Amino acid sequence: MPTKESAAKDTASKAPQSHGDLHPVYPSMLLPERCGDFELYLAQGESMVLYASRGELFTPSHRERLAERGVERLYVRASEKEVFERFVQDNLGDVLADETIPVEERSSAWFDVTTSLAREAFDRNLPKSLNNVRFSRIKKILRESLPFFGRPEVLKSLSQFVAEGREFYHHGIGVMVLTAGVMNTIANEDTEHLVGVCSGALLHDVGKLTLPEHVFESHPDKLSAGDRELMQSHPVMGVSQCASVQLPQEALHCVLFHHEREDGSGYPSQAPGDVIPLCAKVVGMCDEYENLIRSKPWHEAFTPFEALSRIKEKSGMYDRDLLKRLILVLSRAEIM
Ligand SMILES: [Fe+2]
Ligand SMILES: [Fe+2]
Repeated sequence: MPTKESAAKDTASKAPQSHGDLHPVYPSMLLPERCGDFELYLAQGESMVLYASRGELFTPSHRERLAERGVERLYVRASEKEVFERFVQDNLGDVLADETIPVEERSSAWFDVTTSLAREAFDRNLPKSLNNVRFSRIKKILRESLPFFGRPEVLKSLSQFVAEGREFYHHGIGVMVLTAGVMNTIANEDTEHLVGVCSGALLHDVGKLTLPEHVFESHPDKLSAGDRELMQSHPVMGVSQCASVQLPQEALHCVLFHHEREDGSGYPSQAPGDVIPLCAKVVGMCDEYENLIRSKPWHEAFTPFEALSRIKEKSGMYDRDLLKRLILVLSRAEIM
């Protein structure tokens, strides 16, 4: 990787002239002994100079030197942002396990990767946005993320990123992070089961993609009978949306049963608590909480404390033990 001043001067004239042409990245994402198929730029005063050429090897001393110089950001060309994201995606497991990288930077990397995967999976404009290739990538990322999710400070940091997201898929990411937190408090859950549950949490509302958007823009109590029926069909539509994807059974359970309630007041089948799968109860509770802390056209975002109070008021609808676990997870992360 050329860092010599001469190389920088030679290439400075070819460097992007505007910050708008560039995308900022953390130097900590440049894992040692890896090559990136993108150019990296360093800000020097008002100009940008080439820091690393395409395909050059990163070494531990590069990160050390950047840290010594107090460099907090490098830049990739906007046109190479996707290549950089794929690089981080391919190396995410090592990034998340690297304790020398601050939790906030690892959370940011995780959020960027997960957002780009979810954006593709939930793209209304793609005929088969959710397919086996994309689902395999999602599972790989989740498998690598589970050890990282186990720490309270990670949940806090991730929650801040998720809360800022305004897109449909950010809700899925938020429910998935909370679900992982609650499931981690339950003993004897093996990794593949947790990956299945977390993927179901991420995809729980995928059926909404098949329905007209207006039915999700009004308060559920103000919908016409026809629109309510449409709205309440989204769990079943979600299962059919996933028909061509090899979704594990627990993920399908989360998609189909996440609106069923302990007292049998949910939908689509009014199943009572003793027949609702545990994972679907966790997703259903985290879904309710995430919806409450997110602003809607008909209500402002509630604080975590207010959201939990509202859920407690409807305690017959939620499993008491799981609700205690959610409160424990949020308080350990100092979110409430
Ligand atoms: Fe839903
Ligand atoms: Fe939801």
